[in-house]
Amino acid sequence: MSIILAIESSCDETSASIMKDKIILSNIIANQEIHENYGGVVPELASRAHQQNIVPVIDEAIKKAGISKSEINAIAFTRGPGLMGSLLVGVSFAKSFAQALNIPLIEVNHMHAHILAHFIEREENQKFPSFPFLALTVSGGHTQIVKVNDYLSMKVLGQTLDDAAGEAFDKSGQLLGLNYPAGPKIDKLAAKGDPNKYEFPYPKVKGLNFSYSGLKTSILYFLQKEVNKDPDFIQENLNDLCASIQHAIVRILLGKIKRAADETGINQIAIGGGVSANSYLSRKLKELGLKKRWDIFIPPLEYTTDNAAMIAIAAHYKYLNKEFVDIDVRPDPKLKV
Ligand code: KG4
Ligand code: ZN
Repeated sequence: MSIILAIESSCDETSASIMKDKIILSNIIANQEIHENYGGVVPELASRAHQQNIVPVIDEAIKKAGISKSEINAIAFTRGPGLMGSLLVGVSFAKSFAQALNIPLIEVNHMHAHILAHFIEREENQKFPSFPFLALTVSGGHTQIVKVNDYLSMKVLGQTLDDAAGEAFDKSGQLLGLNYPAGPKIDKLAAKGDPNKYEFPYPKVKGLNFSYSGLKTSILYFLQKEVNKDPDFIQENLNDLCASIQHAIVRILLGKIKRAADETGINQIAIGGGVSANSYLSRKLKELGLKKRWDIFIPPLEYTTDNAAMIAIAAHYKYLNKEFVDIDVRPDPKLKV
């Protein structure tokens, strides 16, 4: 039996979770609304907000779990990838807490955690991915296809050469006048729009890599041209624009995952990261999965965007392996999968 306290502070969510074996007792997330008007996360504002949130968030996670501090067996934290100032807050807290309680410290790779979130135990007869499986991790900072050989052994098969899929949502949303994070707003507005109204280009990128910068530029030029003709163009066509942009972003993801499945012969496909909350992506992936006879794994909504429960489950497997780190560990903003 193990009780792990996990902390996530890599970007703009301060989160703490208590996990008993593979069951989540609490998962508290403080979102930072301060970035709304900036089109993206402002690193300095993010680290200040983490500093304010970390103690109350951890306090609440422990209280909600109904445990006492002395029952915690290990403390886990996100070491990277992420923003240096944000990571530092979580890492420093974890170190002092581990020292005060004299318990082991576990470092977690944020991208591994997005994938391992699928192994959190939620219900009886739950179906888990079996190894090896393919994971498409799509977030604000990453877009990767990963071959997952085991809980602690993963290989990146392809990734974005420029913007991430979440960034494509956020930056297109900014062009449409939607606040950061624009992904969920586009998702909602797109439900009432026509995905085939406007066509945007499909990038020609070799192998399993992705590129989103060309799409972003073509959306920018298209909007400039139309707004020149009619200043109300965006307002009058917002739903169709959202649906068509979302379709263009998702089509690229599906094209590459299809290729990855064909090339590897693996038919277990899991998605993770903030963009895996997108309803159009999950619908289209399920449709494709039915056609191709794949097993599709989509995380429950609360485990898609950044959260500490996923850090806890990733730490659980390291705890079993006794993979602990020393107190002199430092954050690594560019930590690789
Ligand atoms: O994984 P995450 O919370 O943070 C990072 O590790 O980056 O992902 C955040 C990203 C943002 O770009 C946000 O716009 C996007 O996930 N996102 C969505 C949706 N919910 C969050 N994108 C499209 N549709 C959604 N429903
Ligand atoms: Zn993330």
